[in-house]
Amino acid sequence: MTRTDFAQSAVASIFTGAIASHAAVLADDLGLFDALAKGKLRNRDLDRSPWLRNRIRISGALEALCRVGAVQRCTDGYELTDVGTELAGQVPVFRLWLGGYASVLAGQISIGADPATGVHGGIVAESSGAIGARYLDETIVNLLESLRPEGRICDIGCGTGARLLRVCRRVNQPGIGYDLSAKAVEAARETVDEARRIGVDIDVRQGDATALTQDHPDVDIVTQAFMTHHIAPDEYCAAVLRSYRSRFPRARYLVIFDTVPSQDSEEPEIFAPGFDYIHALQNMEPRSRGAARRMFTEAGYICREEVELAVPNSYAWVLEMRDREGPAS
Ligand SMILES: C[S@@+](CC[C@H](N)C(=O)[O-])C[C@H]1O[C@@H](n2cnc3c(N)ncnc32)[C@H](O)[C@@H]1O
Repeated sequence: MTRTDFAQSAVASIFTGAIASHAAVLADDLGLFDALAKGKLRNRDLDRSPWLRNRIRISGALEALCRVGAVQRCTDGYELTDVGTELAGQVPVFRLWLGGYASVLAGQISIGADPATGVHGGIVAESSGAIGARYLDETIVNLLESLRPEGRICDIGCGTGARLLRVCRRVNQPGIGYDLSAKAVEAARETVDEARRIGVDIDVRQGDATALTQDHPDVDIVTQAFMTHHIAPDEYCAAVLRSYRSRFPRARYLVIFDTVPSQDSEEPEIFAPGFDYIHALQNMEPRSRGAARRMFTEAGYICREEVELAVPNSYAWVLEMRDREGPAS
């Protein structure tokens, strides 16, 4: 599957429709369909009461509905389409099955959120790992190999640790992974056992990127995949990234992989509608590519390379950890 297949696949409509189905019920709960039935919803109105309080969730719902043609963007806001008018009339059907039976639906595939993150960490880690294995890992392993690792690789937010193992095997170096979620660390146990069987030195620990206390002078490369957007606001994230210079005093590179929000997309797509909508529901606004680059600079890093990845809106940034004049103190 190439990059454009995320939009062109027949599965794109199924995936985007699933997200939009939820967004339709939320839009109705937030009063958006009633407001849109009366006319345009202007951006400047959305920035005021009564909408402002739910601004991020409202944008998330409207953008999800744009993807299925129920709402369309106009010069200064959003308007309802004919499909949207029909959808608004059918919301009770969506609410009955998705809302009334939400716990039945969730209970079939996901039981018990991880208290540290509020999400099912095991499912996030396993699914992320599976997406990565299919679309990203070969590129990521090649990129890290090109940096000629000279010591331990540390992967922060490592999920199942499967990519860490792949990297360590390829570059013949030991590894350490940290993840906030106890369920992800539990899922990583299998990877650690497999590593042991094949003679690769890997350890996975529960730990919060924002509060790492142990110093790792043997680490040469730090990676952080698909979680930096959870560390906000920018000044705080910059401070966390800056702290890595002390935690990993001899590391040469910090390599960050992350996804950025879609820019006014109107097409069904696999992956991105989920990323955009779920983070809006979490009241989060993941940083744009430009904002990420500015934040790395604020954290004192020089971006040596930026690579666009196969998963939509996703990039790798290779950041130099040492000052030009020598190792970090
Ligand atoms: C989307 S998953 C990505 C997992 C893996 N890096 C990958 O690329 O497949 C994000 C992971 O980051 C972890 N995470 C989120 N915030 C974290 C934090 N503050 N410190 C450590 N791990 C964190 C989550 O528990 C989750 O396993």
